[in-house]
Amino acid sequence: MLGAAASAQLWLPATARAAENSLPEGVFSLGVASGDPLPDGIVLWTRLAPDPLNGGGMPDAVVPVQFELAEDERFRKVVRRGTAQARPEYGHSVHVDVRGLRPGRRYWYRFRAGGRISPVGRTRTAPHPYSSGGDLRLALASCQNWQHGYFTPYADMLAQDPDVVLFVGDYIYESVPSATALRRHEGTGEPYTLAQYRNRYAQYRSDPDLAAMHAGAPFVVTFDDHEVDNDFAGEIPQDPAKQPHDAFEARLAAAYQAYYEHMPVRATAVPTGAHIRMYRRLEFGRLARLNVLDTRQYRSDQATSQAGAMDPSLTMLGAAQKQWLLDGLHDSPARWNLIASQIMMAETDLLVGEGKQWFYDAWDGYQAERNQFLKEFRSVRNPVVLTGDRHLTMVSDLKEDFANPQSAVVGAEFVGTSISSNGDQDQDAFRREWDPRRADNPHWKLLDAHRGYHLFDIRRDGIDAQVRVVDTVRRPTSTPSTLARLRLEAGRPGVEVV
Ligand SMILES: [Fe+2]
Repeated sequence: MLGAAASAQLWLPATARAAENSLPEGVFSLGVASGDPLPDGIVLWTRLAPDPLNGGGMPDAVVPVQFELAEDERFRKVVRRGTAQARPEYGHSVHVDVRGLRPGRRYWYRFRAGGRISPVGRTRTAPHPYSSGGDLRLALASCQNWQHGYFTPYADMLAQDPDVVLFVGDYIYESVPSATALRRHEGTGEPYTLAQYRNRYAQYRSDPDLAAMHAGAPFVVTFDDHEVDNDFAGEIPQDPAKQPHDAFEARLAAAYQAYYEHMPVRATAVPTGAHIRMYRRLEFGRLARLNVLDTRQYRSDQATSQAGAMDPSLTMLGAAQKQWLLDGLHDSPARWNLIASQIMMAETDLLVGEGKQWFYDAWDGYQAERNQFLKEFRSVRNPVVLTGDRHLTMVSDLKEDFANPQSAVVGAEFVGTSISSNGDQDQDAFRREWDPRRADNPHWKLLDAHRGYHLFDIRRDGIDAQVRVVDTVRRPTSTPSTLARLRLEAGRPGVEVV
């Protein structure tokens, strides 16, 4: 990757090269990553793991890891250099929060430990806080099920050279290994312990397209349910009868710990027991503000009926995060106010004809709080919601009140299909199932069941979006294409297929 071996000679004096080859060759098998760009900073990540699927294979000791960050890929102009500690209690992961960098520019980085050199990563800082022009290329990804397919959409994403990748949940799946799967999950069952979650993340990181994308651009990540347990809500598991509260708390702590260890996130996301702070804001000059939500940890348990979904006491975000989001939307200096929500906000009425039938685990199941946000959107500058979970492309206008077909359009939403989850779908069967529902959901502008991701070119006057899809995830390589192009105009709520 990007000439790591060649430039290693420049980095390391000959005496040092001879002195220490104390770690095995594959110690950087999990690659490198960067994330959460600031105008002057970036998080650099790696994890030492010569035996990644079996606990990592590192000695039970703190290991110093040197890092270098340069303005060029040959590391002739190194601007930061230092040493971080890879600690056994964090799975020998390394998170370096580099500051003092220049805004809106590209950097290259690499690590060295025990005489071994990592692949070279490429990253980019956020634009200057006062810059209002320019453009931002953002890729939206979610839902990568190892067993359902190869993560080939990332190969195309890398070719599109995004400034930042937004991942909105289901980075791993906790499901049991299946003998009939395209690629089989490691282990013997669902992960419950820290060691088991570490092995699962390590397996996912071994996908070459995912690893290359991490090395190619910074990620901004949040998690959904499958990073822990399908459909969990706060401290309530999918199957409370089978997982007592204490056991589920321990599972949450293990899952969050492994999540932190494998993601390029700041120290604010170091978990405390069964809690991790993931909701946060990132600024891209005055062009875009990105509000990253946590719709899992603070939500009420989901409703089981239409009436229950309308219960005003249900919350998706919890009081503190809800106020944080409202404040961040109303005081924003940004042209575009992006909301990264794991789950869909626009209505999905599944019942053809009279009456409604919703999915209770999405925002539809938390109607009162959702509707309050939709009302607030009227006074927010250009709100755009970016979500996942559905394993479909669903692009919608957001209406002030979905119960009233005459109500105003107040924003737009993109549900960014999946990287591989659900595998190659039968498009005709999908149309037969979903097309009859379109009349009941006139706010849907585009529906599709291909695997892929969405790509956004964000500028002051508008956003040009592309739905990028692949022909298959059943093979390690695929053919990408643009399924559709969409356009959002600043100051005019809603989205149009062009
Ligand atoms: Fe998913």
